[in-house]
Amino acid sequence: MIPPQTVAQIIDAADIEDVVGNFVDLKPRGSNRIGLCPFHNEKTPSFSVSPSKGIYKCFGCGKAGSAVNFLMEHEKYTYPEALRWLGERYNIEIQEIESKEGKEQKKARDSLFLINEFARDYFIQNLMESDEGRKIGLSYFKERGYREEIIKKFELGYAMDSFEALTNTASDKSYNLDLLLKLGLIKQKETRKYDFFRGRVMFPIHNLSGKVLAFAGRVLKKDPKAAKYVNSPESDIYNKSAVLYGMFQARRAIREQDRCLLVEGYTDVLSLFQAGIENAVASSGTSLTVDQIRLINRFTPNVTMLYDGDSAGVKAALRGVDLILEQGLNVRIAQLPDGEDPDSYVRKVGAARMQEYLSNDSKDFILFKANLLLKEAEGDPIKKAGVVNSIVESISLIPDPIKRSIYIKECSSLLDVSEEAIANASNKQRSNKRKKRQQSVAAPTEQPSPTAEAVKAVILPENPNAAAKVVDRGIQVVERELLEVLIRFGHTALGESEEKVADILRKTLDQFPPKAPLYLSLYELYTKEMDEGRYREEGFFFHHQESLISKIAVDVCDVRADVSENWEKKHRIFTPKEEEKLDKRVMDLVNRYRLLCLQDLKAEKEAEMMRIHKEDPTSDEIRLLMGQCQQISTWISELSNSYGTVIHRERK
Ligand code: CTP
Ligand code: MN
Repeated sequence: MIPPQTVAQIIDAADIEDVVGNFVDLKPRGSNRIGLCPFHNEKTPSFSVSPSKGIYKCFGCGKAGSAVNFLMEHEKYTYPEALRWLGERYNIEIQEIESKEGKEQKKARDSLFLINEFARDYFIQNLMESDEGRKIGLSYFKERGYREEIIKKFELGYAMDSFEALTNTASDKSYNLDLLLKLGLIKQKETRKYDFFRGRVMFPIHNLSGKVLAFAGRVLKKDPKAAKYVNSPESDIYNKSAVLYGMFQARRAIREQDRCLLVEGYTDVLSLFQAGIENAVASSGTSLTVDQIRLINRFTPNVTMLYDGDSAGVKAALRGVDLILEQGLNVRIAQLPDGEDPDSYVRKVGAARMQEYLSNDSKDFILFKANLLLKEAEGDPIKKAGVVNSIVESISLIPDPIKRSIYIKECSSLLDVSEEAIANASNKQRSNKRKKRQQSVAAPTEQPSPTAEAVKAVILPENPNAAAKVVDRGIQVVERELLEVLIRFGHTALGESEEKVADILRKTLDQFPPKAPLYLSLYELYTKEMDEGRYREEGFFFHHQESLISKIAVDVCDVRADVSENWEKKHRIFTPKEEEKLDKRVMDLVNRYRLLCLQDLKAEKEAEMMRIHKEDPTSDEIRLLMGQCQQISTWISELSNSYGTVIHRERK
């Protein structure tokens, strides 16, 4: 955990213009900066950054937040990851509070990373500088057509054809050989330690921040007994099933193109990257795991699988796909011609043709599967029934009902089976699955941190009525403005009584809580933070850990792209006149809001009256409600008289 003081320090130091400027080309406009929004496609800039407020907001797509949110959204960092990024950039040392065990664990992991870093550098040095490495390793890569920039980017290396090259170098440099053993870089037979990777070109496997988790080594000699690839074993830092090769290098392109290409091999990733197709990662020849799919899903929900043409490859792909569908990702499949893998194919046809191939020849997975199986079952009605079942099985895995119904429609015409029959079968499968899940003994569930959980509970009230109720737009506009004034000027004291804006507004808001669920949550959070003495200033929520909160906060405090220098100044430095205006604004808002709420209340009572009247015109409740309506009407006219505004008696 990062201590709160450090979090505050980091947030203070974060310069939004600098942070966003790393990823977006910004130009000054007034006191703000504007640029093309990185979160949606646009030709004219509607993405605005306010350096003085430390926030960004896009007027096109509505994305908004602080520097931390920007990193979370843009780089798909978690909250602590974003803070660490900022800490590094602004030289703020982060001393995480940890249990003693946690600290030791981290230290142990760090030293393993250090060893891998040493090994990586050693392998690179072999490849680039030693005679053997250049003659055997580098020339191999060159022969395969890899340019130096790719070799550098992926930190490829070479392991000497020797039993003691790495072992001795590590020992000379006084690295702890036990750690090398742990990482599988060296092996031990009785007391003799020896190199594990020998005479192989080396592919480091990176984590998302570029640290080396493990290595793969490809054999160079034509030795039919030697495995083509050998890999580091799993270790305290390497969990094979949660890693995808190339993710570190591909993440940016995956996000930008909103699509991830999934290939089998290391060399496929390299060749595609070199051809300018930078969004590919490799499952490294094994079948995909749920963790790997979730990793992809952090960057994009769209996956294209690129598999060898031979049917073994396709069958393997079919197996992995159901898992992907279940996670809600959209899967396309591109089948390469027989005997080709992406590496050989891109080298054969070139980058342009490969791109074209990916966009024109990839097929939606379910339709691909249906076509493939149908061909196999041609003329055999029993087999065909099996095909239909298998397709229905895939469709029923898709969590999104709208997507499911689209597939049902398409497959109905493809398979020549009625939509109804497919839908029924799919529903049946889904309910069977549900039953099974319920029966299975309580599975361990993930436990998100209690603070996030608590905040979520505040944000999204479970009350379905509150969420489903369509809130009148007129009220929403006023609620929004109330929150803006509350957040920005809550601490300001008004008039002779020196009553705080927050106290004035809260009298009304406690009586008539905001009706829009999001505003209600923000209000509840505000009062809680205020009452517990944490809330200090406008920026408080902008930097809130929950991006939803900071988004609403930034949103209600509307940072306009066109605000002038003057406007900015006016709101930061309160002249007496400004406060006078604030005074009026607050009273005006309160009155407007109370009126709307009363009218709303009256409408509700009237509706209730109608309902009861229909059921039982003689009911006593009608009298009661009538009296209440009368009372509300009186309040409304009193309020509008003193407020001096013309009010429409009936809102339609
Ligand atoms: N693989 C492995 N161990 C092996 C063979 C394969 O781990 N003995 C994994 C590797 O991740 C490899 C992938 O499966 O990249 C695909 O295997 P293959 O197609 O045989 O290798 P390529 O990546 O195509 O390598 P090359 O082009 O150099 O033959
Ligand atoms: Mn290959």
